[in-house]
Amino acid sequence: MAKRSNTLPRIAGVGRSASATSGSTRSVGTIAVYSVKGGVGKTTIAANLAWCSAELSGHKTLLWDLDAAGGCGFLYGLEREGSRAAGTVFSRDTAPEKLIRRTAFDGLDILPADESIRALDATLAAIGKRKRLAKLTSELSSHYDRIVLDCPPVLSELSAQVMRAADLVIVPLPPSPLSARALEVVVREVADHAKRHPPILPVLSMLDMRRALHKQAREENPAWPVVPYTSVIEQCAVQQRPVGAIAPESPSAQHFISLWRAIERKLSQVT
Ligand SMILES: Nc1ncnc2c1ncn2[C@@H]1O[C@H](COP(=O)(O)OP(=O)(O)O)[C@@H](O)[C@H]1O
Ligand SMILES: [Mg+2]
Repeated sequence: MAKRSNTLPRIAGVGRSASATSGSTRSVGTIAVYSVKGGVGKTTIAANLAWCSAELSGHKTLLWDLDAAGGCGFLYGLEREGSRAAGTVFSRDTAPEKLIRRTAFDGLDILPADESIRALDATLAAIGKRKRLAKLTSELSSHYDRIVLDCPPVLSELSAQVMRAADLVIVPLPPSPLSARALEVVVREVADHAKRHPPILPVLSMLDMRRALHKQAREENPAWPVVPYTSVIEQCAVQQRPVGAIAPESPSAQHFISLWRAIERKLSQVT
């Protein structure tokens, strides 16, 4: 099932991490891709970063889809199974391992969303465990080196739990004044809900340098990683494969690699 259809170099580590059996020095990390806004590129970024993690860094990686829209499974060509169990992972009625599915890429698995995720806020509130998601990601870390959370655009019990579970929060920001506001909201959300404050990495998402506002946003935030607005990234949803598999030599693939490197650097500082 391994598909190594690209020629990109691995960034760190050599080959697949041995995960559960590799001993105590293994680096693990949970990366949340989050914004209070929809349509900003969260799912696209989460899916592509998970690919970078598995294929380039050789990490055993879990992409966990927390949005009922189910974009992650779609982007990897997984058929929806009609199951309504994704939410019951939180009530501990279903072990996550039972729902995890392999992708076509070696070391990259997905915990897909389904309709039951819509009720997740109510489920979490009823359970009353503020760190349920953090506990689950911590348990899954014995099998996975990296867990990428694709989050819904909500400010709720779920987002609070995401902040407690994440080691790093990626916030995609298409250049616009509204996005800047969205970032402020996330910063507050992180500070309000997590004692140890996971760092936030803003990413200029869907950047189109032909547009004046976008150019200005780039100039004002030169340190922020960039994901450009390109047809090859748009193709992910058409071909149901990540950019690294569609066009490994493309500038878009390079942008995701640079973003992934920035994430690995940050993670090495906080985990
Ligand atoms: N960098 C990009 N370039 C081109 N199209 C993009 C890019 N990022 C996202 N898209 C497209 O924009 C739409 C919304 O992206 P998505 O990742 O689903 O956002 P979100 O998860 O924040 O709602 C999708 O159709 C996706 O294919
Ligand atoms: Mg999404």
